[in-house]
Amino acid sequence: MRILMVGDVCGRPGRTILREQLPGLRRSHGADLVVVNGENAAAGFGITPSVYEELLAAGADVVTLGNHTFDKKEAMALLDEEPRLLRPLNYPPGAPGRGAAVVEAGGCRVLVMNAMGRVFLPILLDDPFRAVDAELDAHRGRYDVAFLDFHGEATSEKEAMGWYLDGRAAAVVGTHTHVQTADERVLPLGTAYITDVGMTGPADSVLGMNKDAMVQRMLRQLPTRFEVAEGRRQINAVVVEVDRESGQAREVQRIFIRE
Ligand code: FE2
Repeated sequence: MRILMVGDVCGRPGRTILREQLPGLRRSHGADLVVVNGENAAAGFGITPSVYEELLAAGADVVTLGNHTFDKKEAMALLDEEPRLLRPLNYPPGAPGRGAAVVEAGGCRVLVMNAMGRVFLPILLDDPFRAVDAELDAHRGRYDVAFLDFHGEATSEKEAMGWYLDGRAAAVVGTHTHVQTADERVLPLGTAYITDVGMTGPADSVLGMNKDAMVQRMLRQLPTRFEVAEGRRQINAVVVEVDRESGQAREVQRIFIRE
C-alpha cells in the first residue's frame, strides 16, 4: 500500500495548488492514504474549520499540524470535533484534540501520528520520543502500519527520531522547515525517512511568506507584518510504499513540482 504525505500547505496558494494537483498525484502514485500537513494553511498561521474542509475536499484523508496548531482560536473546538485532524501528540495532558488516528487504507489499519520536536522551537512540549512510545503502546494490536509526521526544526532531532523508530514505523516524515531535503531513504530495519518533506505554496518566497517583508525584517530587526507570498507555486510531497504484511517500507520517493 502507498501513503502520500504532502508538506506544509501554506495559505491560499498552497490550498489552490493542492486542489489542482492532488487528485492527479494520488492517481499516478496509486496512493491509498493522503496525509497533509495543514499547520500553515490559514493565511500562513494555523487552521480554521473552512480551511480544514478545503483540505479534505482537495483529497486529504488526515490533516496534521505543528507549532501553529492553536494560532486560530477556532482550532480548539475543531480539534475536539474532528478525529482526522491531528495536533502534536506530545502536548501536555489536557490539550484539545488528539495526536493520532487509526484509519483504514489499502486493506490496512494505519496509525497516523503527529509529534513535535523540542529543539529550536518556541513551544516546549513533552519528550516526543517517550510520547511516541506511549502512543504506539496505547494502540498495540490495533494497527498494521505506523506513520509519523515529525514536526521539527533541528535536523539532529529528526534524524534521531528516524533511528529511534526504525523497524517500528513504516515512515518518519519530517515537516516544519519548508525546505525539502534530499536525504530520503529506507533505514535498515524498514522505516522510510526524510528530514523534511518541504512546503506546498508560493515558490518565490521565504518559507512561503512575502520575500520583501522578510528581507526588511532581516535588515531592520523591527516587527514586520508577514503575509503569504503570491506568484508561481510548488507542491512538495513524498510517497512511501509499504509492505502490508510486515508494515515496513519498501521504497520512498520525493515529489517536487514547481510551476
Ligand atoms: Fe511549523
